[in-house]
Amino acid sequence: MALDTHRDELEATAAALARPGSGLLAADESTGTIGKRFAAITLENSEEHRRAYRTLLATAPGLGASISGVILYEETLFQQAAAVGGLAAGSILERFRDQGLVVGIKVDQGVEPLPGGLPGESWCTGLKGLQERAARYYARGARFAKWRAVLRISADGSPSELCVRENAWGLARYARTVQEEGLVPIVEPEILMDGDHDILTTAAVQEWVLRTVYEVLGLNGVFLEGSLLKPSMTLPGASCPQRPSPEQVAEFTVRTLRRSVPAAVPAILFLSGGLGEEDASVYLNAINQVPGSPWHLGFSYGRALQHSCLSHWGGSDTAAGQAALLARATANGDAARGLYVAGSQPSDDAASLFVANYSY
Ligand code: 13P
Repeated sequence: MALDTHRDELEATAAALARPGSGLLAADESTGTIGKRFAAITLENSEEHRRAYRTLLATAPGLGASISGVILYEETLFQQAAAVGGLAAGSILERFRDQGLVVGIKVDQGVEPLPGGLPGESWCTGLKGLQERAARYYARGARFAKWRAVLRISADGSPSELCVRENAWGLARYARTVQEEGLVPIVEPEILMDGDHDILTTAAVQEWVLRTVYEVLGLNGVFLEGSLLKPSMTLPGASCPQRPSPEQVAEFTVRTLRRSVPAAVPAILFLSGGLGEEDASVYLNAINQVPGSPWHLGFSYGRALQHSCLSHWGGSDTAAGQAALLARATANGDAARGLYVAGSQPSDDAASLFVANYSY
């Protein structure tokens, strides 16, 4: 069976991504989503600007100290780098690899409304042709993949059982398929922060979702030691009036994971989901101060690593953008060891980066 020939490699890739004191840079914004980020700094969403920005990320000096891997969008995986600082031309992928990062690829093709589900529920597309795409991405140099399923919590009963099962099934089919081609699957069942539910509600829903995910991963024969989980932290809805302390977030997050994620999974890499940059670091730090977790607890942040970077770059100032990226990467690397001192690294964002009904 094809998966058997890849087991050692999958395990080694997952271990490299789970390096202590590190996490992932999620730079896999679709062309539409990066356009929204560029609009915020009044920059046109052209291929040249996307190339320049992703080259900035790839060539940030010292990035590899706290970032073990990067998730790319397909365009970037095959894109040449911009000429920077006397570096010979090459691909953006090579630039990331020069820094010691493992390169990954977003392979889902976005979410669509779920027929038969409750209003606002979605399912994740991208299984058709996935095996061929995974083989092509592996040949290009990718070693891991990401698939983001999205669930919401609502007063009218979301997530429905249909929604939970469909999204878990999609994650499992994806994970099995890409493992057969040598890519470590990042399994991402995101629970959005939209809503006014409390943290106990999120914890109960997330336990159910994760248990279902691991049940069907087992059914599909997914090799857990060669897979990674990318969940949201266990947080109350963004409009819930009770705001928990970082210690409470950490306690509920670790409790939820312990109840539902097998210890065979080498690492859990949180998404930031609209948390502000500093909150994302402080919460991760608190999570790593809870003793006795069997997994590496790291990060796979998009917005919480790039928000200040984008605004300092502003379309032209590469060095300022890179310094801002490095600051947040260092903060999160420290947080992944439970050693981050709140406020010790600069950030532009005082507030949350939460956007209702966010699509990636
Ligand atoms: P955020 O950290 O911005 O939530 O993005 C991570 C990600 O990759 C979502 O799929």
